[in-house]
Amino acid sequence: MQLIDGKAVAAQIKQEIAQEVAEIIATGGKTPHLAAVLVGHDGGSETYVASKVRTCEEVGFKSTLIRYEEDVTEEELLACVSRLNDDPDIDGFIVQLPLPKHISEEKITEAIDYRKDVDGFHPVNVGRMSLGMPCFLSATPAGIVELLRRYDIETRGRHCVVLGRSNIVGKPVSVLMMQKGNPGDCTVTVCHSRTKNIREICLQADIIIAALGVPGFLKGDMVKEGAVVIDVGTTRVPSDKTKSGFRLAGDVLFDEVAPKCSWITPVPGGVGPMTIVSLMRNTLLAGKKEIYSH
Ligand code: GUN
Repeated sequence: MQLIDGKAVAAQIKQEIAQEVAEIIATGGKTPHLAAVLVGHDGGSETYVASKVRTCEEVGFKSTLIRYEEDVTEEELLACVSRLNDDPDIDGFIVQLPLPKHISEEKITEAIDYRKDVDGFHPVNVGRMSLGMPCFLSATPAGIVELLRRYDIETRGRHCVVLGRSNIVGKPVSVLMMQKGNPGDCTVTVCHSRTKNIREICLQADIIIAALGVPGFLKGDMVKEGAVVIDVGTTRVPSDKTKSGFRLAGDVLFDEVAPKCSWITPVPGGVGPMTIVSLMRNTLLAGKKEIYSH
């Protein structure tokens, strides 16, 4: 079994981005600028957004954090999105999800100018991704594919089982894994809460991407010898061993599954760090107007 070290790959990509930003600035170009909108005080969202802002600083981007209280109205948030759409200094921005129940995530996502949608959540970007056209790829699926690429893991003709059908991970990663190319060219099966015989399906998988958000879901007896296992789970569970009082739990029962794998991502230190660098890459592309030139 070999570990896929997302932390090390992410550090390498951060360096590559930092170098490119330094060159852009040295030649009189504009410093890429990412804005993040955070509503409320959800612990997970606070951590993710703080990490995004910190990473911007590390690679030399400008960042702006805009905060709203939980009781912000949909109109106020839509007005904020509209201001960010129109602000020529902002290259890309994200609205951290989940949003409070009284606000429609669909409405907010659709209101974002797709040319600044560095999360890749806007229907235009999702549609373009499905068609294999240039677009902002959503960060977690892009990070998974980049890990497979950098570790030179063969995917062509393999059976990839995706656990989970979320808009953020399961759906888009299943599309990327079946698309022409390497990574890609997989035969993909998507399993979800209504799937029957998940164990039997997983046992046929050469590659398993677990993105259900159920800690320890994938057990040793569900994985065949030599499989590649990508764990996207990051559920916060209470722990008396950490300062914060919680730890991140993956969807894979690592101790049982790892001995059977050819490759496996740990949690933390696997897919998580890649997600943030994918967002940085999209922001760099937005700044350079490389995908959408207008
Ligand atoms: N919530 C969980 N993951 C994400 C993400 O990648 N982007 C945004 N905006 N919200 C999230």
